Order: sequence, then C-alpha cells, then structure tokens
Amino acid sequence: MSHHFLEVNDLYYSYPDGTEALKGVSLRLEHGEAVGLVGANGAGKSTLLLAVAGLVFSGSGTVNIGGAILSKKTLGEIRRRLGFIFQDPEDQLFMPTVFDDVAFGPLNQGLSAGEVSFRVEEALRSVGAGHLSDRPAYRLSGGEKRAVSIAAVLSMLPDILLMDEPSSGLDPRNRRMLIGLLGDFTHTRLIATHDLDLVLDVCPRTIVLHRGEIAADGHTEEIFRDEGLLERCSLEPPLCMQGVRS
Ligand SMILES: Nc1ncnc2c1ncn2[C@@H]1O[C@H](COP(=O)(O)OP(=O)(O)OP(=O)(O)O)[C@@H](O)[C@H]1O
Ligand SMILES: [Mg+2]
Repeated sequence: MSHHFLEVNDLYYSYPDGTEALKGVSLRLEHGEAVGLVGANGAGKSTLLLAVAGLVFSGSGTVNIGGAILSKKTLGEIRRRLGFIFQDPEDQLFMPTVFDDVAFGPLNQGLSAGEVSFRVEEALRSVGAGHLSDRPAYRLSGGEKRAVSIAAVLSMLPDILLMDEPSSGLDPRNRRMLIGLLGDFTHTRLIATHDLDLVLDVCPRTIVLHRGEIAADGHTEEIFRDEGLLERCSLEPPLCMQGVRS
C-alpha cells in the first residue's frame, strides 16, 4: 500500500473575475505523509485544496491522485479517494441527526444498512463522538461539529485527507484533541492552516504558499526558524518558537 500519493504539477488557477490564485504550483505528498500548507490570507491555500479536489477546474497543470489524473472523467473515482474537510463544519452537516450526516457518504457509496451503521459507529468512535449519534448537528458546540464533520469524511474511508483550517473556532482543549487525532491518522494529509503550532505538532513537512506560488517546501522546524522567509511571506513564527528564535 504505497499508492495514496498526491502530485500536483505546474497548476494554475484564475477565478472568473481574473484573480490569479495559483501560479504554477507543483508538489508531491507521499503515502501517509502529513504536510502543513501555510501562507498569509489570500496566499491560495483554499484554492489549492479546491483544485486538488476537483471543486474548481484549473486552466493548466495536472493533479494526480494515486495514479489517476484529475479530469471530469476521473472525478467520481478521485472524490471517493479524497476526504475534504471544509473550514466551516456547517458546510458539511445538513441532515436531521449526526448519524444521518455521517451515514450520508457511505449510503451514497451504495453500502447496505448494516455496513453503513458499522462505518458510522467506527467513524464517530474514532473522533470521540459516539455519544452524539442521535443529536441534531445544529445543536452541537463548535468543537463537536468539527469532530462530526471529520467523522462524516472518515466514514467514506478516504485515502487522502484535505483539511482547510481544521482548528479554527476550537477552544484550547478541543484543539488539543484535534491535534492528537490528526497526529494519529495514517492517511496522507494536506492541512491548510494559520495554526503553525498545530503544524509543528502534526506535520514534519511544511509547504509555504505566497501569492499563489510555493515559497518553500521542507522540514517544518527549519521553515519556522527561517525568519527571513516568514517575514517575506507575512507569517509569524509559531507561538511556542517565539522565544527560541535563532
Ligand atoms: N470566489 C473568488 N473569486 C475571486 N477571487 C477569489 C475567490 N476566492 C478567493 N479569491 C482570491 O484568490 C486568492 C487566493 O485566495 P484563497 O482563498 O485561496 O487564499 P487562502 O490562502 O485560503 O486565504 P485565507 O488564509 O484567508 O483563507 C486571493 O487573492 C483571493 O482574494
Ligand atoms: Mg483559505
């Protein structure tokens, strides 16, 4: 099992109003890698995740998910391999109960009722949300919604997780739980975030986006110690390194 890789080659994307959001991005994530995607507001992080997931279609460049090149033809197959966790859990939770939200993907995959129940229970248990199964998602706290939105993606057994700001809106305790969870996953993970401390904990490798281009791709600690790079890309070092800059 070494085929859960993600490769992006010379990817460009402009929004319909002409904003050039991605300008020749290339990267490759190997099976099981956890990679932080950081950059200032507007750097292109969310656009890159959307383009990788085929939620926007690029003018040029390629996205290769485990050997399948993203196109309108392969989109269905690729979507089954990718789990996209949106910044706002509200974008992912819309059914009457948490169970139904987490069952939505497996049901669409055509699984039997028994298999669906099993997937839902496993996914909720893995995020510590088994007890929320019968609750309506709109009545949950922000941290609970986040956990359920991750379970709703895990229940589809994706190979690769794309996450956009997974820790936003979480209190310190829920953030800590999320960090534990993300660190335990064995999926290939690309995590777009402003939470550089989370990246330091979860991702040995970091990619820095700056105005639609990759400014750096390397060891997380080395990148976060490079004051010149952070300054050029309008980033601040993670809080836990602010006292120990070399
Ligand atoms: N729907 C849109 N239409 C036009 N331009 C857009 C649209 N969405 C984003 N952009 C622009 O594309 C560029 C990249 O935006 P993107 O949302 O990918 O950045 P980001 O790195 O995710 O930022 P943030 O940290 O604020 O989430 C920015 O210049 C942004 O203004
Ligand atoms: Mg964004």
